[in-house]
Amino acid sequence: MCGIVGYTGGRKASEIIYEGLKRLEYRGYDSAGIATLSGGEIFVGKKQGRVGVLESLIGGLDGNTGVGHTRWATHGKPSDVNAHPHCAGKFAVVHNGIIENFAQLKERFFCGVEFSSQTDSEIIVRLLNEFYDGDLLSALKCVADVLQGSYALAVICADFNGLAVLKKNSPAIIGYGKDGNFVASDCPALAGECSEITILEDGDIAVVSQDCVRIYDGDLKPAERGRIKNLATPASLELGDCPHYMLKEIYEVPASVERTCAGYFTVEKKVSEVLRGIDRIIIVGCGTAYNSGLVAKRYIESFARMPAEAEIAGEFRYKNPVITPTTAVIAISQSGETADTVEAAKLALSLGAKVIAVTNAPYSALTRCADAVVPVGAGPEICVAATKSYTGQITALYLLAKTLAGVSAQASFEKLSVMPKLCIQTIENIDVSTLADMCARSDGAYFLGRDIDYAVALEGSLKLKEISYVPSEGYPAGELKHGTLALIDIRAVAVVIITDERLAGKCENAVEQVLSRKGKAVVITNVGGLEKTFEGRAEVIKIPKCDMYLSPLLSAIAVQLVAYRTALLLDRDPDKPRNLAKSVTVE
Ligand code: AGP
Repeated sequence: MCGIVGYTGGRKASEIIYEGLKRLEYRGYDSAGIATLSGGEIFVGKKQGRVGVLESLIGGLDGNTGVGHTRWATHGKPSDVNAHPHCAGKFAVVHNGIIENFAQLKERFFCGVEFSSQTDSEIIVRLLNEFYDGDLLSALKCVADVLQGSYALAVICADFNGLAVLKKNSPAIIGYGKDGNFVASDCPALAGECSEITILEDGDIAVVSQDCVRIYDGDLKPAERGRIKNLATPASLELGDCPHYMLKEIYEVPASVERTCAGYFTVEKKVSEVLRGIDRIIIVGCGTAYNSGLVAKRYIESFARMPAEAEIAGEFRYKNPVITPTTAVIAISQSGETADTVEAAKLALSLGAKVIAVTNAPYSALTRCADAVVPVGAGPEICVAATKSYTGQITALYLLAKTLAGVSAQASFEKLSVMPKLCIQTIENIDVSTLADMCARSDGAYFLGRDIDYAVALEGSLKLKEISYVPSEGYPAGELKHGTLALIDIRAVAVVIITDERLAGKCENAVEQVLSRKGKAVVITNVGGLEKTFEGRAEVIKIPKCDMYLSPLLSAIAVQLVAYRTALLLDRDPDKPRNLAKSVTVE
């Protein structure tokens, strides 16, 4: 989603905002822009492209107050005119979210007026200018009263040396710096600048100057929101020696597993309290988080023998879900801000379910609404493709399922404690170059597996298509012969994950079916003897042996590395795949 940053204080605003935007680029990289205020005048620099396009513009943007934006386009194509900030009269505005009633508002207030951009956001600045009669706060309130949808807005006004902020259904934080104050979408933007932050709540309006921050609720009553520590540090966001964040974050998988285990001990009691009396589990998430939910479903059914369903969060909301007082919903989200997942969790709560959040983001919208939070110890994940957060989620969900089965974290930890070492061995020893080369040359890649391996196959497929743009699908291995086999020919690659001895024979059949149709097949496995079976016919990538249920922690590393290497062979940027953003805060 888009990222916003604002600063008012003693230094050159455009330089500080530019640095903040670079740290928020994972939220969108279609265009970038900054507006500053100097001598009662607003100056704007904006351009299509990544945040770097602003480097040559910031010199010309004077002033100690300003707002900036990095855009993930929803309404209106990526272009210079659609780039934020949008301006009208005395105002410049940056927006993260979607104004759902912008067409109606335009018709009502600006009938016949030609707008400069095709965005839904321009209506906001036009309305501010329309409603403003010298009283900034009441103009902001009037705008908030008519907008529908989601927004985090940072505003500068030529009459006020400071920032105004409005927030509803999109994240916004206030940061307290040494020589000024900030607003941002997320903590990393303020790393190194602010050690303390305030998280705004829906409906809040904030007026921020160099020495003072005033926060009001939706009725303009002063609101106390409290300050918390900003956990993002410059060191945690640095690339170090790695060429890409994706690779760096795959290297951090072992630490993610380890930290997630440690974190679970602190919440085990609370989780078991919330799960008391529960007899059915629904797991919700999007993309990778949904895929880890599929693994969790297997854990819960196997360990606790309790019915569990995994649902795509955006679908769950509109299917009139069956919830009883003894249903618990596990909402999984790396960012904790994914709109579909947060809204699914809120719906479940409103229907009487207990909600447990599994997330990396301790102060996110998801954690604020949940009955209990299971922390994922992955740390900040910058690459758009999820890697260490997936394996962290799997670890957390394994422990959670064990709690549901009445097994203590201490007892579960015995099996988990060897996994970081096995993750390191996997990263260091496997060679995915042949498979990556096959994928890069293929017309399509098919990830196959059974049971838990099928869940990882879905994740492997998502990862490959997301960052290399190679068309890819994930299938249960047994389903191949029911349709997908028609797509297999000399230009197709099948990646077959086999970590379950019981099902190895059945999965071997799928490999044979691919080979007999002249497709290429590669097996990712820790089952013995398969090299011999497929010698000279199919490549075999060996991962270490481990507990059957924990194999996703290792097979996931293999498919993540395949996607990464394929993206490099095809000259794609693995960290910033086209059309995507890391945290999708709109529906
Ligand atoms: C994963 O590689 C994707 N970038 C995407 O599917 C992601 O997992 C999804 O958007 C959910 O995000 P969340 O975990 O922050 O809720």
